[in-house]
Amino acid sequence: MERTLIIIKPDGVQRGLIGEIIARFERSGLRLAAMKFMQITPALAARHYAVHEGKRFYEGLIQYITSAPVVVMAWEGLNAIQLARKLMGKTNPLDADAGSIRGDFGVSIGRNLVHGSDGPETAAFELGLFFAPEEFVTWERCTDAWIFEEN
Ligand code: RTP
Ligand code: MG
Repeated sequence: MERTLIIIKPDGVQRGLIGEIIARFERSGLRLAAMKFMQITPALAARHYAVHEGKRFYEGLIQYITSAPVVVMAWEGLNAIQLARKLMGKTNPLDADAGSIRGDFGVSIGRNLVHGSDGPETAAFELGLFFAPEEFVTWERCTDAWIFEEN
């Protein structure tokens, strides 16, 4: 089982797509482990996007992610990180497949609606930035055995 950090970015919130985006994760079979509605501060944005510091799009990215509230979630399940990236689609909505969140709703790379961790180490780091350990809810669904095959 893996956990991944998903953020509905300010454009997703402003465009009224919170429910639409959450529904896609929910119906995928992934299980919600934590969720909060908040506005990201410049300091937190700088830590979250530290890997992009110095790139030409960095200032715009920090401005964008701090410009309005976001919904931050932890989703868990088998291969949760890769599965979430597939649901999101490629970074540039132009390259994102139809049926993905960015492919269906995005137009610009700098307004691509959603963030998802890109690997296990990044996920652990990002989850720790946004959630305290006690904010993760450990629970089981009665459907889990119909979704997660035991090996
Ligand atoms: P994210 O981190 O937001 O989930 O997106 P990602 O992994 O698909 O893409 P990444 O390379 O990590 O880039 C982070 C975010 O920076 C913005 N970006 N703009 N204008 C540009 O060329 C450009 N490149 C990246 C996007 O909002 C991207 O999601
Ligand atoms: Mg990324």
